[in-house]
Amino acid sequence: MINIDNDLKEYGKNHKVPISLDDTLDFLIKTINDSNSKYILEIGTAIGYSSIAMAENTDCIRIDSVEIDQSRYRLAKDNVAKHNLLNRISLYNGDALEYIKNTNKTYDFIYLDGPKGQYINYLPHLMKILKINGIIFADNLYFHGMVTGSIPVSKGCRAMIKGLHRYIDEINSNPNLDTKIYDIGDGIGISKRIK
Ligand SMILES: C[S@@+](CC[C@H](N)C(=O)[O-])C[C@H]1O[C@@H](n2cnc3c(N)ncnc32)[C@H](O)[C@@H]1O
Repeated sequence: MINIDNDLKEYGKNHKVPISLDDTLDFLIKTINDSNSKYILEIGTAIGYSSIAMAENTDCIRIDSVEIDQSRYRLAKDNVAKHNLLNRISLYNGDALEYIKNTNKTYDFIYLDGPKGQYINYLPHLMKILKINGIIFADNLYFHGMVTGSIPVSKGCRAMIKGLHRYIDEINSNPNLDTKIYDIGDGIGISKRIK
């Protein structure tokens, strides 16, 4: 059983802030612990719920997390401070693409939980900042069944779903990655950089 902040979970529900599902979070924590990952990048902080859960349930040294929405970023900052985790979690307010293009840091583990249609565009940049044997953990690969075809793709989601299909094809065929897709939560892709 992992330690989570139930007040934040409740806040997310009541204010329609999308946060990680319970089984996704369990699997995320297990994957970080099994891989002994120490330096983590999260794309999509929202209010800090998953960053805090990662910090409190793993031995990671540092989490960098990027959020484009300023009010969510501010809330996340307060929440991280309340948990006394400002020394381990660094929050960045801005576009994830700019962050990953410009950072000179490298990571053991990347939790990809930002704009789903952009995963495919992020991938080449993520490959440069992911260490060998590092892991990309990508959430929502099924996107509520629209990717798997169990529900029709709504008009406004077409570009995003197309982007997710391209991401899935790429992680399955890229010779530098070893990928497995799990039927957990909303579909999770774990891709290990093998070279
Ligand atoms: C699913 S939520 C993240 C949930 C969080 N990981 C958790 O479980 O607590 C996705 C977040 O990505 C943010 N986002 C969307 N586009 C972004 C971008 N281009 N760069 C950074 N963050 C972005 C959204 O504002 C949203 O808060």
